[in-house]
Amino acid sequence: MLILAIDTSCDETSVAITDGRKVLSNVIYSQVLLHKKWGGVVPSIAKRAHEERIDFVVEEALRKVGNKNFCSLQNIDAIAVTQGPGLAVALEVGIKKAKELAKKYNKKLISVNHLEGHLYSPFVQNSQSNPKIDFKFPYLGLIISGGHTEFVIFKNHLEYEVIGSTLDDAAGEALDKAAKLLGLGYPGGPMIERLAKEAGNKDFHNFPRPMLKSNDLNFSFSGLKTSFYYFLKNQPHFTLRVKELSSSFQEAVFDTLIKKTEKAIKQTKINRLVIGGGVIANMRLRKLFRDLIKKYQGEVLFPSYKYLTGDNAAMIGVVAGFKAKKGLFVKDIDELDRLPRWSL
Ligand code: KG4
Ligand code: ZN
Repeated sequence: MLILAIDTSCDETSVAITDGRKVLSNVIYSQVLLHKKWGGVVPSIAKRAHEERIDFVVEEALRKVGNKNFCSLQNIDAIAVTQGPGLAVALEVGIKKAKELAKKYNKKLISVNHLEGHLYSPFVQNSQSNPKIDFKFPYLGLIISGGHTEFVIFKNHLEYEVIGSTLDDAAGEALDKAAKLLGLGYPGGPMIERLAKEAGNKDFHNFPRPMLKSNDLNFSFSGLKTSFYYFLKNQPHFTLRVKELSSSFQEAVFDTLIKKTEKAIKQTKINRLVIGGGVIANMRLRKLFRDLIKKYQGEVLFPSYKYLTGDNAAMIGVVAGFKAKKGLFVKDIDELDRLPRWSL
């Protein structure tokens, strides 16, 4: 089943053509350069950039499938779109385009939760069907992105139970805010990773590991951010130790994630992890998860290709493929509306 999927949940305009778990093409038009000088995503700029670029990105995704089996909208079986969660004005652009295409070409429409996409991202395959892993439910799922930090039991296809989430800032957001305080620009995660790798001294300062004493599986990163702020404010000369600070701050965030995951493994007795979201692009974090799972003789699955860690339409198309198999299409296309705070 050929699906054209659209994701405009935040600051990437992305369109993919998928066939089951296989990605035939995926185009991401990033807006990072537009938002960089403001130090974060500006909704009005995001909306406008999505509107200006969406047609081009749809065309590119179709074109990139290749000349041999030229892919036009007529050959597509269904249109998929991220309905939420995300930035309302940004989601709206993708939804409008998806509705327009579904009507114009008389296609079925499938709505997808962006978080589902991140959860399925480790199972997304390239056009040669790699990686060849199969599903072995249940999994303990973890989404670690700029907008979300969530634990879920991934019980079966399209069946989830949320067992923990952040009470305030997401893990990626904490990294971005710390980077901003250090004057490193946006998004901060990749920059912090690079600097942390150069310095290595993660023990330069021991920042707090929030919520580790609480028995639940929730996170809270805003206190850590505040502690970082005051640390810099009270000792401005340390601002120059940007590598050590990046390393120590990153370690506080990651150590919290790892310890909570260990708690989740013990509580759920599930030792197979599926991890998605922008922050899992980080190699230090991947190593920490691998070390943890060794201890529990389980397995941990990450997205196989870097583009699948951040926002992309490929993961949305793959989820839509599973929804199509179950006949989960949008009943009334006109009624479909964005769900900026949609949870799993
Ligand atoms: O999944 P994503 O692209 O967008 C959301 O849905 O939020 O995640 C973006 C987040 C940002 O906070 C960014 O700083 C973080 O992922 N990130 C990283 C790395 N690459 C992106 N964090 C740590 N290390 C990285 N290499
Ligand atoms: Zn995302």
